[in-house]
Amino acid sequence: MTATPLYCAEPARRDHAQQLAARFALPLLTQRPTDGYWLELGPERLELLTSGKHGAVYAEFVEGAAKHRREQGGGRGQPVAKAIGLKGAKELPRVVDATAGLGGDSFVLATLGCQVTLLERSPVAAALLFDALERARWHPDTMDIAARMTLVHADARSWLAAQAELPAAQRPEVVFVDPMFPDTDKKSAAAKKGMQAFQQVIGDDLDSSELLAAAIAAATVRVVVKRPQRGAAIAGVKPSVVLDGKSTRFDLYVIKALRPQG
Ligand SMILES: C[S@@+](CC[C@H](N)C(=O)[O-])C[C@H]1O[C@@H](n2cnc3c(N)ncnc32)[C@H](O)[C@@H]1O
Repeated sequence: MTATPLYCAEPARRDHAQQLAARFALPLLTQRPTDGYWLELGPERLELLTSGKHGAVYAEFVEGAAKHRREQGGGRGQPVAKAIGLKGAKELPRVVDATAGLGGDSFVLATLGCQVTLLERSPVAAALLFDALERARWHPDTMDIAARMTLVHADARSWLAAQAELPAAQRPEVVFVDPMFPDTDKKSAAAKKGMQAFQQVIGDDLDSSELLAAAIAAATVRVVVKRPQRGAAIAGVKPSVVLDGKSTRFDLYVIKALRPQG
């Protein structure tokens, strides 16, 4: 897959564009491309753009759906919170989101008070996340939430393998995994046109079994895999528990059951 370039559309932000390009190894352009996909830094934010029919894709924690979720979200009763084990929990777990993407799930968990490490291997997704986190850090409504979110641009398989070597007290309690599967629900994908652009650029995650094994080796309490309701489970270890939702399912891998002495 060829590297997605970065174009700076705002002369006053050229230094910032150079920093982003260096940090995420993005080729920096001096002219806006006429086709393909590219990242564009404008006056407000960083976006993934294309000459095709898809709209702009960006990560967002302050406005829009994130604002709505902050204000009207289902608290610890919402499915992702239940899957992580927050319902009735006295202490909030340290969570690693091994497939951070645009940070939607991490943001929900950080809003509920969890410390979340966001792992993202794609330079495009990591740059979009980095930009959204910067904006969230400056906004009074989100600065506390953003302070609980730490972005690491790395492949989760090797990052988690290093964690598995640490004493249990330093390892993540929960590892959350939401890979991009080729079988992702067609209807919901069509509803989110922008996400199709994201999927085109990022590609499918064909190494999810390895990621699941690394997550199980690193987590001390549970691994949570998010799947479309009728999607196949990740090949390999069988889930200990399955939480079915309307459009999403969570496959739980309970460490005590899988590794009794762990
Ligand atoms: C379906 S998206 C995740 C969406 C995310 N849950 C959200 O709320 O926005 C999957 C993401 O995981 C990333 N990913 C997949 N395997 C990974 C790995 N081994 N290490 C780091 N990131 C990975 C992909 O690059 C992609 O951005």
